[in-house]
Amino acid sequence: MNRLVVINAALFVLTAISAAGGSWCYHDPSCGDTTWPTIATEHCNGSRQSPINIVSASAVVDATLTTFTFTKYGDNYTMKNIKNTGKTVIVKLRSGVQVTGGALSEAYDSLQFHLHWGNGTSVPGSEHTVDGTRYPMELHIVNAKSSHNGNTTTAVTDSTGLAALGFFIEAMPGNVTGSPAAWNTLTSYLANITLKDDIVKITHAISLDELLEGVDRTKYYRYNGSLTTPNCNETVVWTVFKDPIKVSQDLIDLFSTKLHIDHNSTSDLMTNVFRNKKPVNGRVVTTQGSSSTALPPSGASTTNSSLGLMALVWMLLMV
Ligand SMILES: *[C@@H]1O[C@H](CO)[C@@H](O)[C@H](O)[C@H]1NC(C)=O
Ligand SMILES: *[C@@H]1O[C@H](CO)[C@@H](O)[C@H](O)[C@H]1NC(C)=O
Ligand SMILES: *[C@@H]1O[C@H](CO)[C@@H](O)[C@H](O)[C@H]1NC(C)=O
Ligand SMILES: *[C@@H]1O[C@H](CO)[C@@H](O)[C@H](O)[C@H]1NC(C)=O
Ligand SMILES: *[C@@H]1O[C@H](CO)[C@@H](O)[C@H](O)[C@H]1NC(C)=O
Ligand SMILES: *[C@@H]1O[C@H](CO)[C@@H](O)[C@H](O)[C@H]1NC(C)=O
Ligand SMILES: *[C@@H]1O[C@H](CO)[C@@H](O)[C@H](O)[C@H]1NC(C)=O
Ligand SMILES: *[C@@H]1O[C@H](CO)[C@@H](O)[C@H](O)[C@H]1NC(C)=O
Ligand SMILES: *[C@@H]1O[C@H](CO)[C@@H](O)[C@H](O)[C@H]1NC(C)=O
Ligand SMILES: *[C@@H]1O[C@H](CO)[C@@H](O)[C@H](O)[C@H]1NC(C)=O
Ligand SMILES: [Zn+2]
Repeated sequence: MNRLVVINAALFVLTAISAAGGSWCYHDPSCGDTTWPTIATEHCNGSRQSPINIVSASAVVDATLTTFTFTKYGDNYTMKNIKNTGKTVIVKLRSGVQVTGGALSEAYDSLQFHLHWGNGTSVPGSEHTVDGTRYPMELHIVNAKSSHNGNTTTAVTDSTGLAALGFFIEAMPGNVTGSPAAWNTLTSYLANITLKDDIVKITHAISLDELLEGVDRTKYYRYNGSLTTPNCNETVVWTVFKDPIKVSQDLIDLFSTKLHIDHNSTSDLMTNVFRNKKPVNGRVVTTQGSSSTALPPSGASTTNSSLGLMALVWMLLMV
């Protein structure tokens, strides 16, 4: 496999994740989520679909759900660009960003993150719900199993080929605006991508750790599910963190007031961009022990330069 194949394959995976499924939508009755099983027949009507409502009292304790190690999540320059897809806002990450541990079978590369929301803070729009509670927003970091090296043939059929990290977002209490600073910076880009397919480079220093601030990343739910957009592939190991990220209300409101779903500003604002819950169908949701002994808050982000170096050497060897 040469370098070009690797790059093309990686691009293909990204495209397949963010843009697959043809003419689906969230609201029009002719293409909204109830119609997805007829639009993307292969997977959207499957038996391990996402999102789900997580019933906290039914979560099974699993002591093997260890802590994660986040590589380059503390790096200020991993975010390549930000794009309005007409369905969400997606931020592409540079190579070398990784997640390991957390009872994942091996290392996964963090490829992109995107968000789901409702209509400001008044109409919540997270995809997962916990005991019926829907949060204002949900952030998804999409990761692909590193060992596939972009081999789409093996990646798309692997039932654990993708690992999604879900983070709830709720309004920061008190009369605060423009906070946290990293979210203020990130959302400042929304004014530059108001129309579908608008894309701009990210030039500010922002790290994933800063966006995830305040979340104890040792506390999470785990279940086997799917992509929440067509083609709804059932290849996703889901991690849904219990603690929400706190973002000031004015910044949450920007998502539903700045972005349009089509190529001109007369098109609808992007609101309620989340899929409704799917049946659990006997699936088990697992979580850590209920022991409340405080582990150190897992910002646990490690910039592993040796990993980065190995990746670089690997790329050079490919030429
Ligand atoms: C999806 O599954 C449900 C229940 O199993 C079934 O009633 C429905 O016809 C299926 N829809 C499609 C498009 O296959
Ligand atoms: C979203 O909220 C705004 C005001 O809060 C309202 O004008 C608008 O109609 C809402 N949009 C939808 C799709 O409900
Ligand atoms: C992908 O993996 C399959 C199965 O291991 C292998 O046969 C195929 O050659 C690989 N494709 C590439 C492009 O490496
Ligand atoms: C989802 O499955 C379809 C086949 O049904 C495949 O073409 C596509 O590449 C898969 N997408 C991902 C992201 O695995
Ligand atoms: C909130 O803060 C703004 C300016 O920072 C101030 O004008 C306003 O009175 C405050 N509102 C409340 C309810 O404290
Ligand atoms: C974003 O828009 C602002 C104001 O409209 C402009 O000053 C800035 O250069 C734009 N940034 C990018 C990266 O396009
Ligand atoms: C990363 O950016 C933040 C905020 O802009 C800054 O406070 C911090 O010093 C930067 N870290 C490094 C290692 O440059
Ligand atoms: C998810 O599927 C994998 C592979 O089939 C299995 O080993 C694992 O126990 C499942 N996880 C849960 C939480 O059911
Ligand atoms: C905006 O798009 C709509 C249909 O999506 C079209 O009818 C309208 O003419 C467009 N307006 C402009 C200014 O291009
Ligand atoms: C970083 O890389 C070194 C050498 O490859 C390895 O021993 C260490 O476990 C890695 N640490 C993390 C957090 O991945
Ligand atoms: Zn998502």
